[in-house]
Amino acid sequence: MPETFDKNDRLMTAKPRDEDAEADRSIRPRTLKNYIGQEPIKVSLTIYLQAALCRRDPLDHILLYGPPGLGKTTLANIIAAEMGRNIRVTSGPAIERPGDLASILTNLSAGDVLFIDEIHRMPRVVEEVLYPAMEDFGLDIMIGKGPSAKSIRLDLPKFTLVGATTRAGLLTAPLRDRFGIMFRLELYTHEELCTILTNASRTLNVRAEPDGIAEIARRSRGTPRIANRLLRRVRDYAQVVARGIITQPIAQDALSLQAIDELGLDRVDRAMLEAMITKFGGGPVGLETLAAATGEDPGTIEDVYEPFLMQMGFVARTPRGRVALPAAYKHIGLARPDEEKPAEPETKPGEQLSLPI
Ligand SMILES: Nc1ncnc2c1ncn2[C@@H]1O[C@H](COP(=O)(O)OP(=O)(O)OP(=O)(O)O)[C@@H](O)[C@H]1O
Ligand SMILES: [Mg+2]
Repeated sequence: MPETFDKNDRLMTAKPRDEDAEADRSIRPRTLKNYIGQEPIKVSLTIYLQAALCRRDPLDHILLYGPPGLGKTTLANIIAAEMGRNIRVTSGPAIERPGDLASILTNLSAGDVLFIDEIHRMPRVVEEVLYPAMEDFGLDIMIGKGPSAKSIRLDLPKFTLVGATTRAGLLTAPLRDRFGIMFRLELYTHEELCTILTNASRTLNVRAEPDGIAEIARRSRGTPRIANRLLRRVRDYAQVVARGIITQPIAQDALSLQAIDELGLDRVDRAMLEAMITKFGGGPVGLETLAAATGEDPGTIEDVYEPFLMQMGFVARTPRGRVALPAAYKHIGLARPDEEKPAEPETKPGEQLSLPI
C-alpha cells in the first residue's frame, strides 16, 4: 500500500480550497488584456465582443469548459466587464426548482450576463426552463392545474448566458446545442504561468526573482489557481527564512517541504502512477478499477489528475483503459517489464535467430 495521506487536504488540487477565496478575489484579472494565455479564446472573444458592442446586442450564449482552476469564473467576469454589463452569478446545484430559475431570469436587466457555474449539475426540470429562455428569451409558465391548465409565455430581457463546466461530456445535447459559442480552456504553458505569477507577486507585494518564479511555475501543473496558491506558500516560507525574497533555492526548499516534486506531482499522483504500474502491470486499467484501487472518485481522476498527467506524457487513455507511459516509470523510479529482462548473453551473429521471441 502506498503511504497514507489526507486527500481532502491536498495542496496540489486544482479545485478551490478555502484559503483561495480571498486571494482569488484580489489577484483575479479584471480585463481581457490582463488575462494571460488562452490566446485562441481571446482572439475569438475580442471579435465577438466588438461585433456585439457595435450591434448593441448581447453576446451569444457561451459555454466555458475545461479542468478546474484554469480561469472559467475569471473569464465570465471579464466578459461582463468588457460588455459594460452586470453579472449575476449562480450555480447548477443552487438552482433546485424551476421557480428558482424563473425568479433569476425575470430579475435580469437587458444585456446582463447570467453566469451558471457547474452547469452540468443543474436538475433536468430546471434545464427545460432554460431552453426557451436561451433560444427565444421566453419563459413558459403554467397557469392553473388539470385540464384547464394553460401555458402562457413571458418575455424576458435579452441576456447572455455564460455556462461553466469541468465536464462538458455530462451536458445534455439540447443544452449544449443552445450555446452559440463554446470555448475549451487549456492548461497553461510555463511562460504563461511565469507571467501570471509575476503579476500576482506584484499585486501581493512580494519580492520574487525570475528564477524563483520559474521554480514555482514548473511545479504548478499548468494551473493558475495552483500557481497562485504555491506562491503564497513560498512567500510565507521566504518571510521566515529569507527576509521575504523568493529565490530559486527558497522556492525549491519550500515546495519540497510540501512533498511536491520538481514536476509538480504530489503524493496522490505518485501513488496513482505507482498503483497503475505495480498493481496493473502498467495498464490498460479501467477508470473504475483505478478509482477503487486508489480510493479516489472516478470523476476526480478524470477531471483533476488526468489532464495534467496526460499533458506530462505519464498516462495515456486508450479504448481499453489507462496506460502508464515510459516517462511515468522513469519518474517513479520503477523499471518497465521489458527492462527487467536480464542482459542477453553474448551471441555470435546468426545465433539470435533461434532465441525465443
Ligand atoms: N488567464 C489567467 N490570467 C491570470 N490569472 C488567472 C488566469 N486564469 C485564472 N487565473 C487565476 O486563477 C484563479 C482561479 O481561476 P478561476 O477561479 O477563474 O478558475 P475556474 O476555471 O473558474 O475554476 P473552477 O473550475 O474550480 O470553477 C483566479 O483567481 C485567477 O487569479
Ligand atoms: Mg470557477
